[in-house]
Amino acid sequence: MLGKAPGVGADMVFLDLEDSVAPLEKEAARVNVVKAINEQDWGDSVVCVRVNAWDTEWTYRDVIEVVENASERLDEIMLPKVQSAADVQALDMLLTQIEQVTGRQSTVGIEPQIETARGLINVEEICAASPRLETIVFGPADFAASTEMPVLTGGVQIPEYPGDHFHYVFAKILMAGRANGLQVIDGPFLKIRELDALRDYSMRSRILGFDGKWALNPDQVPVINEVFTPTQEQYDHAFDILDAYEKATTEGAAGERKGAVMFGDEMIDEASRKMAIKFASRGERAGMKRSS
Ligand code: GLV
Ligand code: MG
Repeated sequence: MLGKAPGVGADMVFLDLEDSVAPLEKEAARVNVVKAINEQDWGDSVVCVRVNAWDTEWTYRDVIEVVENASERLDEIMLPKVQSAADVQALDMLLTQIEQVTGRQSTVGIEPQIETARGLINVEEICAASPRLETIVFGPADFAASTEMPVLTGGVQIPEYPGDHFHYVFAKILMAGRANGLQVIDGPFLKIRELDALRDYSMRSRILGFDGKWALNPDQVPVINEVFTPTQEQYDHAFDILDAYEKATTEGAAGERKGAVMFGDEMIDEASRKMAIKFASRGERAGMKRSS
């Protein structure tokens, strides 16, 4: 899995020391992860390691062994089951000391996972807990366990529920993340062979405004990239709006430049520019080209 990770086409890769590693393998996994970071070519992917949560015995050694021995290619540490701002601050202090001792040039970022009831209640303070924060991540499987939802699979639709059972959770995490300028990421979809169901379920967090979603295996990556990348039509439309708005606001004599104009049968203004710029930058990152 570590060997295949750089080639799967994900924007970001995290190497796990937490729940996908058996307790008796935890220490050996640290060595494997460091070796993979240092020896593999990660291209332009963001590289992250998920350490164990603070309520285990492994966290501090995970952080020290990985960050002291990994090259600068390590971008971030993911901290699971974050319950409060103090969990993030403890990691921040540990990272600060390691960076001082090792002389690391770049700062290690932090990605907290919200996957407990207490974590969700405290998500606002968690998202503001450290300048190292880059992203906030939802963990649906642990969250379902924490809230005692009567489900046995994480992150999938529950047909018996007349709506989206995670709507409140998605919205709350999104607001806390956006209010603090963080990227907001949805977690795993555990039925890894059901790609149509994955596409359908991923649309929920995408439409609310999330930036991306985890993939658990290589087959999920293209589906998720498709959902979180603008369509060609949206991409072209965004540039048309940007052009029309630029023309309206800058061309003409004094007194004739307009902040709100008609674009086809809709009115556009500064808010439209802000919406369009997001489609443009996401599409550019995905390598899209504007149609001629
Ligand atoms: C991910 O860690 C999850 O619990 O869903
Ligand atoms: Mg989890």
